[in-house]
Amino acid sequence: MAKHSKLHVVMFPWLAFGHIIPFFELSKFIAQKGHKISFVSTPRIIDRLPKIPSHLASLITLVKIPLPKVEGLPESAEATIDIKNEDMDHLKKAFDGLETELTRFLKEAVPDWIIYDFAPHWLPQVAARFGISRAFFLIFNAWFLAFLGPTETMINGLDERTKAEDFMIPPKFVEFETKVAYRRYEANWIVGANQKNDSGFSDFYRAGKVINGSEVIIARHCNEFESDWLKLLEELHHRPVIPLGLMPPQVEENDNESWVSIKTWLDNQNKGEVVYVALGSELTPSQDQLNELALGLELSGVPFFWALRKPSGLEESYSVILPDGFEERIKGQGMVWKSWAPQLMILSHDSVGAFLTHCGWSSFIEGLSFGHPLIALPFLIDQGLNARVIAHNKVGTEISRNDEDGSYTKNSVSDSIKLIMDENEGKIFREKAKEMSAIFGDKELHGRYIENFIKFLEN
Ligand SMILES: *[C@@H]1O[C@H](CO)[C@@H](O)[C@H](O)[C@H]1NC(C)=O
Ligand SMILES: *[C@@H]1O[C@H](CO)[C@@H](O)[C@H](O)[C@H]1NC(C)=O
Ligand SMILES: *[C@@H]1O[C@H](CO)[C@@H](O)[C@H](O)[C@H]1NC(C)=O
Repeated sequence: MAKHSKLHVVMFPWLAFGHIIPFFELSKFIAQKGHKISFVSTPRIIDRLPKIPSHLASLITLVKIPLPKVEGLPESAEATIDIKNEDMDHLKKAFDGLETELTRFLKEAVPDWIIYDFAPHWLPQVAARFGISRAFFLIFNAWFLAFLGPTETMINGLDERTKAEDFMIPPKFVEFETKVAYRRYEANWIVGANQKNDSGFSDFYRAGKVINGSEVIIARHCNEFESDWLKLLEELHHRPVIPLGLMPPQVEENDNESWVSIKTWLDNQNKGEVVYVALGSELTPSQDQLNELALGLELSGVPFFWALRKPSGLEESYSVILPDGFEERIKGQGMVWKSWAPQLMILSHDSVGAFLTHCGWSSFIEGLSFGHPLIALPFLIDQGLNARVIAHNKVGTEISRNDEDGSYTKNSVSDSIKLIMDENEGKIFREKAKEMSAIFGDKELHGRYIENFIKFLEN
């Protein structure tokens, strides 16, 4: 590729908005340098994307490829928020069916680069055949991928690690000191995820094949925080790993009706005293988990703002209810907000002093970029490992849980909240989180990572 000429880059995320949004953000960064983007996804996902800023509209093309029908997958379901967890394999199967149309598109367009997600195990080979350069975009952090081990091991089923116990200690190839490991109740997930599935392939096989066929891994990670993991990733996968920085989000002012009411409520609270509670848009806690969380918030006596929204596709099938009389009793203490809530605007408000989170990597970054200590309530995938990192760095604390079944009580919820908000005991966490915001919220630092990556693409 000649220097300075403009590139054509294809983006192809997995069908989950937690993946789609970082791919979309990265697309905008690349387009800002004058390069052309084709953002490929299914029609109903494309229709739900945020607006492309007008100055980039001519550079970003949204390419719709219809999702093939698969038995068992609900009509018009295209993204993970549209389905129940049981249907995940059907969605993966349908996703694999995108191969034919995507191949046709690539053959015709012959872009310079394709940047893809963990799922399309078939794609690197196709792209290589047309001479297209290939990057795997890890929207997770480096410790989660490194935890899974070398490329071949991922493809072959995580070598000898087959039982929950094997994942409850740091892997043997990690030579530095770390607390990163799953708890028993979390480890069952990884044992299951390592198994072949109705879609025919485990997630780790998919990611392993994708990595094996890529020239480079790019990761939402930086050298200023837990950088040992980046080096380890390079050793495990024998190819360059380019940190993209943390891609801290831009707060966009808006005068949305929802925000106006939320802001009015927050304006009436004292500075730094509100705990913002949000478990992400994809989680569906059980009735028990929801009850204990609600009662724990109440018991703490601390002001809270709880963004509690059902995943959009599950509105009918997912029916958990708040404890009897809860909403009446907490009037004056907290607010339960059941529709769309602008997380970044809330986190940037002066009244917010801590963030009770499921520890998804985006929320982790968002919370710390505003300097808020984190109260960790992890559920899935990388979230448990992220919570260990939070506790180890003292930028927050983990709500304690029963080690066998992962259950937690209102008391453990309340104790963690009170610890973080306590004038004396909580100080260390609040100070560490403030310190960390100097790294997590540094737009220039993270901007340089993106520049560096785009230079790599150009050369
Ligand atoms: C399929 O994979 C999911 C995670 O991706 C896992 O939880 C589940 O146990 C697997 N199912 C089977 C039948 O192996
Ligand atoms: C990994 O990639 C190499 C080189 O492209 C290829 O020869 C090998 O078959 C791949 N391994 C697997 C398990 O796909
Ligand atoms: C405004 O709020 C609605 C819900 O009240 C939400 O669906 C929408 O995405 C918001 N719009 C913007 C531009 O943030």
